[in-house]
Amino acid sequence: MAPPPQALLARLHEANQAHVLRDWDARGTGARAALVAQLEAIDFTQLEALRVAKPADALPPRFAPVQVTPAVFRAEEKARGVDAMRSGKVAALLVAGGQGTRLGSLQPKGLFPAAPLSGAPLYQLHAEKVFALSSHYERAIPFLVMTSPATDTLTRTFFAENPHLSFAPDQVRLFQQDTMPAICPHSGRLLLEAPGKLFLSPNGHGGALTALADSGLLAELRARGVEHVFYFQVDNPLVKVCDPGFIGRHIAHGSEVSSKVVFKHDPAEKVGVLVDADGRCSIIEYTLLPKELAHERDDAGELRYRAGSPAIHLFSLTFLERVTSGSAAALPYRPALKCVTHYDPDTGATVPAPPASAPNAIKFERFIFDSLPHAERWLAVETRREEEFAPIKNATGPDSPETSSVAQLALYATWLARAGVETNGNLVEISPLYALDEEELAAKAKRLPPLTGPTILQ
Ligand code: UD1
Repeated sequence: MAPPPQALLARLHEANQAHVLRDWDARGTGARAALVAQLEAIDFTQLEALRVAKPADALPPRFAPVQVTPAVFRAEEKARGVDAMRSGKVAALLVAGGQGTRLGSLQPKGLFPAAPLSGAPLYQLHAEKVFALSSHYERAIPFLVMTSPATDTLTRTFFAENPHLSFAPDQVRLFQQDTMPAICPHSGRLLLEAPGKLFLSPNGHGGALTALADSGLLAELRARGVEHVFYFQVDNPLVKVCDPGFIGRHIAHGSEVSSKVVFKHDPAEKVGVLVDADGRCSIIEYTLLPKELAHERDDAGELRYRAGSPAIHLFSLTFLERVTSGSAAALPYRPALKCVTHYDPDTGATVPAPPASAPNAIKFERFIFDSLPHAERWLAVETRREEEFAPIKNATGPDSPETSSVAQLALYATWLARAGVETNGNLVEISPLYALDEEELAAKAKRLPPLTGPTILQ
């Protein structure tokens, strides 16, 4: 029976991690090779430094509220954005490595039924937006979808089986993010999922940057002539994918990163906050913003730190190339205490036996917004929550399927009312294939027959 590689064994002993090799002889050749590969990829010094880091280390040393411009776009800005799409300079990047865990589902979040009447899943709504934009502007907008080991197979199946959207060949590109090990918060020991197998989890949406570079997709975008990448999260059905005015303003400003903002009214709302940190844009995650600052109000009675992040960004490709190469290549890993069911090699037991919720592990994730301070030129654009942010995160309460449905229906009702359509009190859902925005709806409104019941316009 071949022993573990000597150099690895020495590293494991030095890092107090030799427990992962217990019962080595009982493992098959394939399992041993897989474990060695997992372990070879780990930087134990980095893991230990991350374990002992203090949360305050993650805050910028000095920061102030950020200046924003309203998302009321001039005709020239819209025209510039449209022109960028028509000439193939824009790609869309959807991060979809997450499962619907908080919604009680182990399926990819993207498969969650989100549309209020049709129940169309999040993936479908996003895909329809990219498809509709590509048809309007007669240019296939590259649609990059980041998956994780847990979401990859079902996401591929979804995109393979959706025949009503005839994307151009190679338009939809799925790529997978990397994983990181989890450790015990007290001892720093690596956790095992099963005997001889490390517990690994997705390395955060910030993993999109290295995954894009390593998969060759960044180089491919460059070769295709793409200059701007629109980034969005899977959980928000209202996101205005590749909003032309936003793209136009970003280009006109020569911005490397532009971010949308929705104003917070509740200090406890779970969104990151954009701040100005010595002239650079930074996002402070809601778990890290000191409580007194979260509650601080200005002379007008508004929250001072109100620039909430709906996680909608526009990156220049040059910026993405820069932050994935050279010394800026690695975004920091952020530790988070979680409850993880794992195998204990000392006792041979699985702990904690579910259901259990006390944190017993540290997981590590990279956050996409940790790239923002690298931008020399940046913009924060304030959009209206009612128009662009109704995420589905929790099974009930705020940011739930129910609040999101109400917000979607309210937005469509506003579009219809402004277009002079009499709904007779009927609920109306508007598919992105029918209208992407209020103007498109208004242009089609005259042809609508009287509504006699709940209606899906598609
Ligand atoms: C996130 C942001 C928060 C922002 C809010 C807006 C973080 C840490 N916080 O909070 O600042 O205000 O969204 O809704 O992101 N994902 C991956 N791979 C991963 C982890 C996540 O693709 O490894 C994707 C998920 O599929 C999802 C998105 O990233 O689309 C957000 O992740 P989630 O953990 O739900 O973030 P929130 O806590 O909701």
